[in-house]
Amino acid sequence: MGSESKIHTFEEVAKHNKDKDCWLIISGKVYDVTPFMADHPGGGEVLLSATGKDGTNDFEDIGHSEDAREMMEKYYIGEIDAETVPQKRTYIPPHQMSNDPASEFFIKILQFLVPLLLLGLAISLRNYTKKE
Ligand code: HEM
Repeated sequence: MGSESKIHTFEEVAKHNKDKDCWLIISGKVYDVTPFMADHPGGGEVLLSATGKDGTNDFEDIGHSEDAREMMEKYYIGEIDAETVPQKRTYIPPHQMSNDPASEFFIKILQFLVPLLLLGLAISLRNYTKKE
């Protein structure tokens, strides 16, 4: 098993995110841990939580033993094409205060028109009172 070192894309690896089909990316290598799901001392759920991303930090945060690292070799199926790995998790654009650009434009116009109207009103009132 795992004789040739195949290069996988992130997109392809991320598809294997199920209990019965689980691939992990750890330190640039790809592991098919499907047969290990039930036997993993940390449980199958945590392995699933490390799918669809670079699981290196998750794996290292636990401080796995040397035994665990040796065990990994059994599940090695190839390398990850580093260029296909997203640097960050999905980009979430900053929250926008105004949802509609048209209403934003309308408010800008109002901000400009209201003082002008008030000024016009004041001038016409002044002229009117002067005449009397
Ligand atoms: C091929 C990958 C993995 C292998 C072979 C593996 C193997 C092991 C082994 C042998 C242990 C027992 C403790 C030790 O010897 O260090 C363990 C514990 C644990 N593993 Fe993994 N592991 C893998 C990936 C992961 C990942 C990706 C995570 C996190 C998302 C994880 C989370 C844990 C946790 C939380 C424990 C602690 C369980 C406890 O002590 O209660 N493991 N793992």
